[in-house]
Amino acid sequence: MTTLVFPSSTPAGRDYIRDALRRGEPVLAASSLAHDAIAAEADWHRLPSIHDDGFDAALDALIAAHGVTRLYAPVTLVYAYLRDYLARTGRRDLAFVRRAPFYEAIEAQAVEARDAPALTAFARRVAEPGTADHLQPAHIAGILRHAFGVFGESYTDKLTALIGVLQSVPAGDAVEIGALFGRSTAVLLQALNLTDRANPVLVVDAWHGQTAVQTSLPPALAAAAIDMDWSLVADSFDVNMVPLARPGRFNRLRLPSAEAFARYARDRRVTSDLFGTTAYSGRIAFLHIDANHDYDAVAQDRDLWTSRLVPGAWVVFDDYAWSHGGGPGRAADEFCAALGARLARSFYAGGALFVRLADR
Ligand SMILES: C[S@@+](CC[C@H](N)C(=O)[O-])C[C@H]1O[C@@H](n2cnc3c(N)ncnc32)[C@H](O)[C@@H]1O
Repeated sequence: MTTLVFPSSTPAGRDYIRDALRRGEPVLAASSLAHDAIAAEADWHRLPSIHDDGFDAALDALIAAHGVTRLYAPVTLVYAYLRDYLARTGRRDLAFVRRAPFYEAIEAQAVEARDAPALTAFARRVAEPGTADHLQPAHIAGILRHAFGVFGESYTDKLTALIGVLQSVPAGDAVEIGALFGRSTAVLLQALNLTDRANPVLVVDAWHGQTAVQTSLPPALAAAAIDMDWSLVADSFDVNMVPLARPGRFNRLRLPSAEAFARYARDRRVTSDLFGTTAYSGRIAFLHIDANHDYDAVAQDRDLWTSRLVPGAWVVFDDYAWSHGGGPGRAADEFCAALGARLARSFYAGGALFVRLADR
């Protein structure tokens, strides 16, 4: 089952070859270049251009010599040529292992367009009545597509509900505690961009292993938080946010939540080299709590940051129903109970609890 990747000189071709080599799958690289850098990593062969007379004969010989049974052609015209070659030759011993990226992008659009109307209806349903009627399927599909380009631990239902409720956030700061690479932050920024308000966004994350350790987990699982280079995660967050952040309206604090809150309470301005200076009001209109999931940590985040909520604010507790522990659920239930008549409504979506405070 050897796969021939032709041409191997494109990013998609190189990615396919590297993945196959990592999995231990037999793979052959070919391109029409005089030298292809992938030759340093894979078994590479030169094939003529598809426009050359000798192409079919050279391809037949390569396939026969290496027992090739599968093809991956990551360039649209080469894919079209090889599709025609298979039809012309009637070969049954060869098949494409996947389609060219162009066709995969079309298929992705078709799948997203199929799902987007139901997601749009969901976003409108969870939003405050009448505040999300302007949302169209392309808004939801577009925001989700970009968000899923960022690694993250928030998924479709929660992110769609976020888009809905963010259409009715009152004036004030939008704060997220726990961002990782910025998937939910990407939704936060893009969803706010659909409104006519200018809520400044503050993201807090320590991006630090010891801070992220969840002691309620078995030691082997808790240790997973330490076993990585968090500075790369923090840098990746910055890169992910650059295209979305509006000057003066976005910043982040690379601090543990409690230290960040002390800073926020003391000084309403946050400055970073990359995002400049952002002035905050000190009053929070939207709060997403998605940091350490130990009960004590969630309760601390809740008690510190919800002390600044404005009437009508939204609070989102991530992982209200968490498969690995009851911390977020308990902290959220206590919050709702303590709100009493200040609780306007709450709903559960995609594992998170969304809570809206009364307008007065
Ligand atoms: C579950 S991830 C966040 C997922 C993200 N919201 C998303 O959509 O992909 C939790 C993040 O919280 C951060 N974190 C954990 N404890 C923290 C603390 N005490 N203060 C600040 N950040 C913390 C971790 O560094 C990690 O990036």
